[in-house]
Amino acid sequence: MSENTGVTMGTWKNLPVLNVKNESAEAVIALHGAHVLSYKPAGERDLLWLSEKSWAEADQPIRGGIPVCWPWFGSAGDPKHGVARLYNWTLKDAVCKPGSTKLIFEPFQWNDLTASVAVTVADKLVVELTTENRGKADFRLSEALHSYFAVSDISKIEISGLDRAEFIDTLNSTRHIQEGVIRIGAETDRIYDHTPAECVISDPAFAKKIHIRKDGSMSTVVWNPWIAKSKMMPDFGDDEYTGMVCVETTNAANDTRTLAPGKKHTLTTILFLA
Ligand code: BG6
Repeated sequence: MSENTGVTMGTWKNLPVLNVKNESAEAVIALHGAHVLSYKPAGERDLLWLSEKSWAEADQPIRGGIPVCWPWFGSAGDPKHGVARLYNWTLKDAVCKPGSTKLIFEPFQWNDLTASVAVTVADKLVVELTTENRGKADFRLSEALHSYFAVSDISKIEISGLDRAEFIDTLNSTRHIQEGVIRIGAETDRIYDHTPAECVISDPAFAKKIHIRKDGSMSTVVWNPWIAKSKMMPDFGDDEYTGMVCVETTNAANDTRTLAPGKKHTLTTILFLA
């Protein structure tokens, strides 16, 4: 990639990354996992959070940014959250227009499935994950664009968009209905599995709100590890839980998709400040 495309090669820790810069935004995307590490609309703060303790190793996932969890979510298979976030992706093409840069990665073949990832860096960040079943049997797909957002103080933010949505509290496998906005004051790990809704993170210390719009998804995961779990994770600083929240665009729980032979499904997340 040359300077005049606005896409340059670089490194983050010891991993190769693509640095994207155009008149709308800048972003950093690691080839390890086709993983967006940073996204800053022009003149704005980074929407994404990245742990200072993150691994940067070929056989470990990156902690922060947008892990691509595929073709299963969580512990539905081994390794946890699938194989895509550990795969070394290759850039196929960069489509550059004024204020918009679309990175298209070479498809990743895993058994009978292929995953295709495209990342568009513009006044919005768009991540598209398309799965195609090239086999002869149905495949039960679960997945996530597991976005970690940077917040000023977890105890002062609100997440809206999920009022009256049903969720599974993953911490004790119970079902509930959301009442009003989400506020976080303890370990939180929830799957809202009947909702196409756009969510908004309101953070009073930051003038603008983070919007999380989606397509191909009827489920959203909200996660913050809080104190005890943070201490248990080697790749997560003990106090870092105060500055992040995950609001993940997923196909999880009741929103798992059965992909028939020859069929495709695209999961899209669209992030922007407004
Ligand atoms: C979330 C899950 O999506 O990812 C949590 O709901 C999990 O249960 C978190 O702890 C982080 O997973 P990992 O594998 O990246 O540590």
